[in-house]
Amino acid sequence: MSTFPLTRLRRLRSTGALRSLVRETRLGLDSLVYPLFVGPTTQPNESLPALGRFSVDDLVAEAEELRSLGVPAVILFGIPDEKDEQGSGAWDDDGVVQRALRTLRASVPGLVLVTDVCLCEYTSHGHCGVLEGEEVANDATIEVLARTAVSHVEAGADAVAPSDMMDGRVAAIRGALDDAGFDATPILSYAAKYASAFYGPFREAAESAPAFGDRRGYQMDPANVREALRECELDVAEGADVLMVKPAMPNLDIIRAVRERFDLPVAAYNVSGEYAMVKAAAASGWMDERQAALESLTAIKRAGADVIVTYWAKDVARWL
Ligand code: PBG
Repeated sequence: MSTFPLTRLRRLRSTGALRSLVRETRLGLDSLVYPLFVGPTTQPNESLPALGRFSVDDLVAEAEELRSLGVPAVILFGIPDEKDEQGSGAWDDDGVVQRALRTLRASVPGLVLVTDVCLCEYTSHGHCGVLEGEEVANDATIEVLARTAVSHVEAGADAVAPSDMMDGRVAAIRGALDDAGFDATPILSYAAKYASAFYGPFREAAESAPAFGDRRGYQMDPANVREALRECELDVAEGADVLMVKPAMPNLDIIRAVRERFDLPVAAYNVSGEYAMVKAAAASGWMDERQAALESLTAIKRAGADVIVTYWAKDVARWL
């Protein structure tokens, strides 16, 4: 191997044009998904703008703006008017996400509409499934998740993304979608979703923090990588079309491991806490938001993600 002074790696770093020519990882708007929160009323979020929520009516203008900026896809989260023990708002044909889907389907054709399939925003106790005592009952939960997924697709969802971490939910959803005639609708599985402190701002925005206990009985232990691969393997066997890792930045090694082991598209969720950390630091004058965000997203791509769900998608459309 040739060494200094024959080799000088700084040669290709000397101008922006040269750096761009040899760049190994390119971030593009076409691989980003923007989260959208829909609730009974519009409530902007001043410090974390992407975590604001929209009424169904106001959502249309936001979606039109996203489409005109070139954001290709959104993932919808619903905050219902009322919650109950079962989370029945999740599969209500007249529920907030179902109404949003019908409206967006008609008014912004072409925008890819993904839905988050989970119960935590709909249950009075804030857990991701139905309870038996203080435990989340796995097998009862996957039935209602399947029902929820079907109701989303009936209302116009292009893809469903289960985020609950119950065992067997991908197979249950695949079966229910196929029985309903939706065999062409893909499942983007939150396959390796860790029990994480980084969901804090989301839970505040979506009013979905658990009323007691935590989610460690169903979401993954952040210490584990082999278990993430087992989760992915099972989801592939159950019919998942895309494997998602979440959160993204603390788990770049997991994204890489999933990329190397599987040939499915890999997605990563750059979650609310990752966004909020940069926002807070930028507000204090400690970091440049644009640079920190683009560096984060590029690192997530470099780790192996094909698709990135990010609260910065709308900003990236303006930045790039
Ligand atoms: C629903 C869900 C959560 C997130 C996405 N889907 C919250 C949770 O599991 O507590 C978090 C997203 C984020 O923090 O940006 N289960």
